[in-house]
Formats: sequence, C-alpha cells, structure tokens
Amino acid sequence: MTKPRILLIVGGGIAAYKSIELVRLLRKSGHIVRCVITRAGEQFVTPLTLAALSENKVYTNLFDLKDEVEMGHIQLSREADLVVVAPATADLLAKMAAGIADDLATTLLLATDKPVLAAPAMNVRMWLHAATQRNVATLRGDGVTVMQPDEGEMACGEYGPGRLPEPQAIIDAIDAALARAPVPVALNAPEALAGQPDFAPANRRPLYGRRILITAGPTHEPIDPVRYIANRSSGKQGFAIAAAAAEAGAEVLLVAGPVDLPTPPGVIRVDVETAVEMAAEVAGGLPVDAAIMVAAVADWRAADTAPQKIKKDGSGQVPPLALTENPDILATVAKSADRPPLLIGFAAETNDVIAHAQAKLARKGCDWIVANDVAADPMGGANNRVHIVSKDGVDSWDRLPKDAVARKLMEKIADELETRAPVQRD
Ligand code: C5P
Repeated sequence: MTKPRILLIVGGGIAAYKSIELVRLLRKSGHIVRCVITRAGEQFVTPLTLAALSENKVYTNLFDLKDEVEMGHIQLSREADLVVVAPATADLLAKMAAGIADDLATTLLLATDKPVLAAPAMNVRMWLHAATQRNVATLRGDGVTVMQPDEGEMACGEYGPGRLPEPQAIIDAIDAALARAPVPVALNAPEALAGQPDFAPANRRPLYGRRILITAGPTHEPIDPVRYIANRSSGKQGFAIAAAAAEAGAEVLLVAGPVDLPTPPGVIRVDVETAVEMAAEVAGGLPVDAAIMVAAVADWRAADTAPQKIKKDGSGQVPPLALTENPDILATVAKSADRPPLLIGFAAETNDVIAHAQAKLARKGCDWIVANDVAADPMGGANNRVHIVSKDGVDSWDRLPKDAVARKLMEKIADELETRAPVQRD
C-alpha cells in the first residue's frame, strides 16, 4: 500500500518542540516522514528525537558528503509527496520568498518539484511586520500553502497571531494538500488504487495537467487618490471556483480584484485593482485550457484620474465626472490568437436572465455563460441559482452554496475537456 510521504523541515524557534508531536501523529496516521532540521532548529529539538519518532534518518547539513552519496539533496527534495515546513520561522519564509539556498533546508525548498506547505511560528510583531507579510504574499502567489498562525499568548509573553498551528490542524492541512497533490506514479495504475480510497485516487483530480485561468471580484477604478468607482461583487463565487479547480488538480491562475478573501490552497493569485490591470494579467496568463471570467469588471473608468484629492470649493458646483469605457476582457480573450478551447463568462442579471445570457453569449464570443439572477441571490450572498447557457441550450441548476456550484462546474468543465489535448505552452 502506498503511504503518503512527507518531507518535514523543522526550523529554529521555540515552537520546534511541537514538531515532535507532529511527527508522532503523522506516523500514527500512516504517513512516511523524513525530517530535515536547520541549525537553529537543532537548538530546540535533537535530530535523535526526530529520528526515533520518524523511524528514519534525519538530515541536518547540506555539506555532509556521505549523505550526498547515499541520497543527493535533489532526490531528497523530490521523493516526498509533500514538503512541510513546521515551524516556518520569519527567516525561513524570507529565504523561501527570495529563493535563497544557503543550507540544506532552503536548498531542498528551492530544488523541490513538490507542493510545499508552511506552518509559520514567530513573535507577533515579526508575523505582522510588513516584510513578513510581503514574503507570505509572495509565497502564496508562488503556490506555497502558508497556513495562518494561531492567535494567543506567546512564549515571549506577547499576545497575538504567531503561534504555530496545533499539530492536528497541520495534519488536516497536510491531508488537504495531499488530496490536491499530483497523483503518485504508482497510483496511476488502476490496480494500485485498489483498497486505498483515502489517498490520491486519480479520479478525484479530473483536471490534473490542465491550466485554468479565473478572474474574480470587482475592479476599483480610481477617481482621485481617495475615491473610486466599484460594485458589490464579493469575489466569493470566483474564489470558490478557483478552490474547486485546484482541488480537481488543475494549475490555477486567479486574477483577483480587490477583495478580502484568503487565497485558496494551491492557487496562484495575482491581485489587481483596475480593469486595465486585470486585462493585462489575463493576457499574460494565456494560453490556458479554460478561462472562467467571474469578475464583475467595471464597465467604465474615470476618463482622467485626478492626481490629488478633488476638494469641495464651497461654491456648490459639482465637479464633472467624465467616464471612458473599459476594455471588455472576456470579448478580447475570445478574439485573441490564444483563445482558450473553453471560454466561460458570467452574467449577473436582475431580469430576463436567460434571454440576456443568450444575447451575451453571442456578443462576447464565449462558449458558456453562467447566468444568475442577482435579484433573487443578491451579490455577496452564500448561494447561487445558476443557468449554464451554451449553443446547445440551457442547463438550469438548483440553488446551491457557491462552493457546490463551483464543484459542479468543475465536473462539467472536466467532461468538456476530456476529449481535448491539453494546450501547449512554453
Ligand atoms: O457585459 P457584462 O459585464 O454583463 O458581462 C459579464 C461577463 O463579461 C463576465 O464574465 C465578466 O467577467 C466579463 N467582463 C469582462 N470585461 C469587462 C466586462 C465584463 O471580462 N469589461
């Protein structure tokens, strides 16, 4: 039976002692664990403890030539199904974000071709520091799953976010990441799947090997440095679709307008403000197997953005606000040389939902329009009743939670793409 293999990198920090419990629980739940410990980590936990609990050799130093003969560091970084960094210190996160490889742990992190999950632990000020937050955003953008640290009292006496998540929470995150990880080669053989329904069955990832681009959220169109034009889009449906696409095994690029939502695990996210920025990121993200344009892109932007705040001058005169039309991202992609084989638009309508969606399908040149009635399901809500409008007709679904709509949509997309070869990219 194939067991999930974890490469656990133990960073230096008082929370390193919790890695002992993490290894014990991982072994208990059937994971194979190989540990690497940084020099700083060794100040808190001994390699011998980790070796005893993991029942595996512990690696400590990049320049141990004997180990390089036994197992090169490239091989070490790749023979796991998942690389876990716990505790991930501010220093380790910074090195990962910058691509620094100056010891065994950071070299493995740079050399690996496997998904990486980081469980941070550090002082609250260090966690909240702009540099750490920037590094975390970079890592998430790079596809690393960075867990949110727990909030509470810290070893240093301060209070706030920065505590290592509890070992069980890390294990839950590990199992979620493994469920999205590429199927191990051995499991691609149907006979190898027999008797192991819980780990990585190939049929859970019908979009493995596919690349999907998703836009989500509103756009903000500045009028002056403090004011902007926006709409009520929450981004929830687009983010749920990105999460479902990643769960289904796709490589997901999410181009997100300004929303207050966490990046779904395994999703590469690029944040934008305006329609023009979104259009540029979308163009740069092609080619893809499918593009799903969920964003509520502002139709117009201010013709001129004032460089300074527009002031009331007391005269009672209202300043003129001239608008200009934004690029239609969906229609532009539909006409581009890189048009995805499956191009999906959304339509939020308040009346004559299906008729408007059919007209939009033709006008935008896409393959499906996912239409919903925002009079019945106002923007920002938890549920959606959607109609999938295509040249073949209308497929109306029940009112469902947005994540269920997303998963159902992934099934339909997987069926549609099944007979098509993946798009070629450099
Ligand atoms: O024309 P309307 O805004 O109703 O069209 C909605 C669909 O078109 C959505 O899929 C939306 O993401 C996309 N769209 C776009 N660029 C725009 C306006 C809408 O991609 N400027």
